[in-house]
Amino acid sequence: MESIQAIKQRFGIIGNNPKLNRAIEKAIQVAPTDISVLVTGESGVGKESIPKIIHQLSHRKHGKYIAVNCGAIPEGTIDSELFGHEKGAFTGATSTRSGYFEVADGGTIFLDEVGELPLTTQVRLLRVLENGEFIKVGSSKVQKTNVRIVAATNVNMFEAIKKEKFREDLYYRLSTIDINLPALRERKEDIHLLFRKFASDFALKYKMPTVKLTDDAVNLLLKYRWNGNIRQLRNVAEQVSVLEQTRTINAVTLQNYLPNTGSNLPAVVNNTKAESDFSSEREILYKVLFDMKSDLNDLKKLTMELMKHGGTSDVQKDNQHLIQKIYGEEKADDYKTTTVDDLEVLSIPETSEVIEENNSETEDKYHFAEEIEEEETLSLHDKELELIKKSLERHHGKRKLAAAELGISERTLYRKIKQFDL
Ligand SMILES: Nc1ncnc2c1ncn2[C@@H]1O[C@H](COP(=O)(O)OP(=O)(O)OP(=O)(O)O)[C@@H](O)[C@H]1O
Ligand SMILES: [Mg+2]
Repeated sequence: MESIQAIKQRFGIIGNNPKLNRAIEKAIQVAPTDISVLVTGESGVGKESIPKIIHQLSHRKHGKYIAVNCGAIPEGTIDSELFGHEKGAFTGATSTRSGYFEVADGGTIFLDEVGELPLTTQVRLLRVLENGEFIKVGSSKVQKTNVRIVAATNVNMFEAIKKEKFREDLYYRLSTIDINLPALRERKEDIHLLFRKFASDFALKYKMPTVKLTDDAVNLLLKYRWNGNIRQLRNVAEQVSVLEQTRTINAVTLQNYLPNTGSNLPAVVNNTKAESDFSSEREILYKVLFDMKSDLNDLKKLTMELMKHGGTSDVQKDNQHLIQKIYGEEKADDYKTTTVDDLEVLSIPETSEVIEENNSETEDKYHFAEEIEEEETLSLHDKELELIKKSLERHHGKRKLAAAELGISERTLYRKIKQFDL
C-alpha cells in the first residue's frame, strides 16, 4: 500500500495536519473496494483530489474516471447527461446518446456538488447504486452498468434532507464511508507552508522573485478565518505576488488582501466571500487590462513610426525597447526579419491556427464532465470528429456556418474535413 506521504506527492497535496492525513489514509483504505464514498468539507478545502486518489488506487484505474459537476448542469438536461437518451426523446435529440453512467462502465464517476441534484435524478441515481440499473431518457429498456460512485458536497446534507431537497435513503447509500476534509483554519500548521508553496509557484509563473512574509504577516495569516479555505489562500498569494512591488510583505500590506481582518468578528460566510472573490478577481482583471492598454499604446506608437518612415529597418533599430517590451525579450528571436523584395518585414509567428486547433480539440461533447487524460479511451479525435459532423449536419453542409459555430477558421475546418475524410 502506498504511504500517505507518497500519495501527497503524487497528487500535489501539501500539508501535514493529522485530519488531512486521516482523510488521505481513509481514501487509500477504501480505494480497493467498490464502496460509495461521500467527501465532505467546506468550499475550497481540496475535496477534488480524494476521488482521484480513490480511482487511481482501485482496480478500476484503467477504466474511465468522469467528474461531473452536478451544480453546473441545467435541471432539464441532467438526466440525459448522466443516463443518456434515445433518438427523439425530446426536441433536439437527433440521435441516441450514451450518458456518463454508460460511458464510465468499469470505471469511477465523481459526482461533485451532489447536493444540487434534482429529486427526480436522485431516484435514478438510487437505482444505479442499488442494482447497477438505469434507463436512458425516452427508453424503456433497462441497462446495466458497473460504476464506482464517489460524491462530494460542501453543503450540510442533514439540512438538505430536512428541507426535503435531498433523499435520506440516497444520502445513506452515498455516504457508506464519509471522508471529511478539515477547514484551513483548523490546519494552522499548514497555512504558511501552503502560502510559501503558492508564492513560489506564482513567482515561477509570472517570472518574478518569490514574495516573503514578515513574522507579523505570518501571524495575520494564522489568525485569519479563511472562509474560502485553500482556494482563497491561493488567490491571496497570487494577488500579492502580482500586485505588490516589494517582495517582503508585512502585516499592514497583507491586511489589504484579507477582507474583514480589521474586526475580530468571524466573517459572514456568504456575503464576504462573494465580495472578496469579486474584488480580487477585479483587481487582477484591472491589471491585465492596464497591461493590454499599455501594449496597445506601444503598438500605436510603433505603427505611427512605420507610417511616417515607410521602411522597417530604421524603425526597428530606433524602437528596439518598444519591440522588446511588446513581444517579450525571450521571444525576440521568434520574431525573425525576412526580406521580401528588399523590404525587411517583421514577421509574427502564426499562433492563431494552433489556438484554434486547441479550441476545437478541447471541446467536449460531455460539457460538464472532466476526465483524467491518461484514462482517455474515447479519444479526442473521435469527439472532435463527432463535433464537426454534427455541426456540418446542423448547417446542411455549410462550412462557413459550421466553422463559426466550432470557433475555428474555415481553412482549419476544410483541413479537418479532408483529414477525417468526411
Ligand atoms: N492540500 C493542498 N495542497 C495544495 N493545493 C491544494 C490543497 N488542497 C486544495 N488545494 C488547491 O485548492 C483549490 C481548491 O481545491 P478544490 O477545488 O479541490 O476544492 P473543493 O473542496 O472541491 O471546493 P468546492 O467545494 O468549492 O468545489 C485547488 O486549486 C486545489 O488545487
Ligand atoms: Mg470542488
